Amino acid sequence: MNTIIKQIEKILSEAGIEEYKQEAKLIVEAVSGLSTDKIILGYEIKNIDKIIEIAVKRAKTKAPIQHILGFSYFMGEKYIVNSNVLIPRDETEILVLECYKLLKNKKNKIDILDIGVGSGCISCALAKKLVDCDIEILGVDISLEAIKTALENADKLDLIRKIIFRKSDIYSKIRDCEKFDLIVSNPPYIPLKEKNNLQAEVGFEPEMALFAPDEEGVEFYKKIIKDAHKFLKTGGFLAFEIGINQSEIIKKMLDDNGFKDIKIIKDLANIDRVIITHI
Ligand SMILES: C[S@@+](CC[C@H](N)C(=O)[O-])C[C@H]1O[C@@H](n2cnc3c(N)ncnc32)[C@H](O)[C@@H]1O
Repeated sequence: MNTIIKQIEKILSEAGIEEYKQEAKLIVEAVSGLSTDKIILGYEIKNIDKIIEIAVKRAKTKAPIQHILGFSYFMGEKYIVNSNVLIPRDETEILVLECYKLLKNKKNKIDILDIGVGSGCISCALAKKLVDCDIEILGVDISLEAIKTALENADKLDLIRKIIFRKSDIYSKIRDCEKFDLIVSNPPYIPLKEKNNLQAEVGFEPEMALFAPDEEGVEFYKKIIKDAHKFLKTGGFLAFEIGINQSEIIKKMLDDNGFKDIKIIKDLANIDRVIITHI
């Protein structure tokens, strides 16, 4: 292994960073602009001082490496991230893939509402995957700063014709005449009482992207489910990412509100992670 990668691994592991091997590669690749293969093959690495500076910053501050580098990957695409948005998580790719399966064979125009758009990763990934469909996505967020980041990402990925953004407190700025084939959301779902038990890195992400105020962390699901009928087309789908121990509570909310064919999908750690249903 290349000596600079080894050197960075040492800086990170001594600072107690769990994923020090992956992060070392990420830093060296991002700053040098070379792939790991080329680095191992001995291509000349420029900007070594910058690489070390970034590793030391990560080690000292414990700020997420994605914040220090200014980007993260989601479904193979690079997204701008900053302290105003949640860093896209691998689990959310399951939500996107399930939504894609629901919609891929639709012949008519597809309208999607993404509640809590954040970095824009769900909206952009769906627009990318459903590239051959006539699609319009409305991404809403209560945070104007998050919307600005989502807009930058959509622009960078050349998706600005397919996605529009709007500041809205859940449905507050959705007009009665707007109807969707799919409402998708990865809302804040960590119970506020767990705030002090989280990894240091999570403390750098916006609280409004992470926490739900109630004991079980299901407040946002409750609000979204309550008015979903009003904004879904006939047979329209509702799809959520969910947190640990929330699937039964949310399933009951959906049952009580007349949703049908409720399907729960697990993540790689065997945790119920996505819930999908329709009216
Ligand atoms: C868990 S993050 C999800 C971000 C992104 N969709 C993703 O999957 O990475 C939740 C998002 O919901 C937004 N949010 C919080 N409260 C909201 C509300 N009342 N109405 C709309 N969006 C809200 C937050 O600002 C944040 O961007």
